[in-house]
Amino acid sequence: MKRLAVIGPGKVGRTLARLFHDNQVFEIGALIGRDKRPVDEAVAFIGSGEPGGSLQDADIVLVAVPDPALETVIADLIQQDLKPGAIIAHTSGALGLDLFEPLASKDVRCVCAHPVKAFADPARAVETFAGTMTTLQGEASARAELAKAFAAIGGRTLDLPDEIDRTLYHAAIVFMANHLPTLVAAGLSTFEQAGVSREDGIAIAGPILRDVLEAVLETGPAAALTGPVARGDPITVARHLEKLSHADADLAALYAALARATADVAAEKGEASVESLLAIRELTNPG
Ligand SMILES: NC(=O)c1ccc[n+]([C@@H]2O[C@H](COP(=O)([O-])OP(=O)(O)OC[C@H]3O[C@@H](n4cnc5c(N)ncnc54)[C@H](OP(=O)(O)O)[C@@H]3O)[C@@H](O)[C@H]2O)c1
Repeated sequence: MKRLAVIGPGKVGRTLARLFHDNQVFEIGALIGRDKRPVDEAVAFIGSGEPGGSLQDADIVLVAVPDPALETVIADLIQQDLKPGAIIAHTSGALGLDLFEPLASKDVRCVCAHPVKAFADPARAVETFAGTMTTLQGEASARAELAKAFAAIGGRTLDLPDEIDRTLYHAAIVFMANHLPTLVAAGLSTFEQAGVSREDGIAIAGPILRDVLEAVLETGPAAALTGPVARGDPITVARHLEKLSHADADLAALYAALARATADVAAEKGEASVESLLAIRELTNPG
């Protein structure tokens, strides 16, 4: 069995190592961190691994340190004795292949392997990993090996071209996956302003949120869009904005920005009249 070393066995590092260990995909070798205690905790969580062990016998070195440390940690690998042909993979979403440039003279295969998942709680992440998409960029044979390994732990992979803009790639995921909770928080605050409790708000919104999300993913944003903007109803939008601006200026500004963007989706849907969407754009003009 091939051997996996992890530099930075934090949330992502220990979750993936545990999954690879549990499914007998890789033997777990060195676990390298800054302090002894978190590394010992990682060994206990994974059920295997050698605290501070050597990278020399690692077939795969997974670098899962926080983004600000990643550049230095990868560049420092130039001084390490690495196994010829080893795969060096980092798990960052925002950072790309250019971090591997300092290793160009080394006989290693470099890959960005970004698991597109929230790893806030490693125990939960292990339970819910099945179906997770990991995007791969970099050396082809290493991508193929990692694709097999991720499939063996219930994941999916997608190869990305080397030349994509990594910052915008990451911003796209942040837009959808990180801003969705913000949208729900704004809705719950608005419910509270209306006198509806948070608990009732979640009960009311839960089914429609799930339904809309499924529809958006199945049919696309324009086909799934409903509501006053899709219907071309500037009077209702104006009423919402007026009430919100009295209740909470930040909520009103967020609503206006989203309604303005929604007018573009509604235009694509084609049900609302051009005049009504122009009126909504006027109402929500930030200037
Ligand atoms: N969290 C997510 O949901 C998520 C999702 C996808 C991708 N990612 C990416 O995965 C990577 C790791 O994120 P994470 O959330 O797992 O971070 P994390 O939980 O903070 O874990 C980072 C690990 O790196 C160690 N570390 C920090 N600086 C180091 C250094 N200079 N040398 C060696 N080890 C060092 C930390 O040690 P200490 O315990 O001593 O701090 C910790 O074990 C990042 O690139 C992140 O962007 C994260």
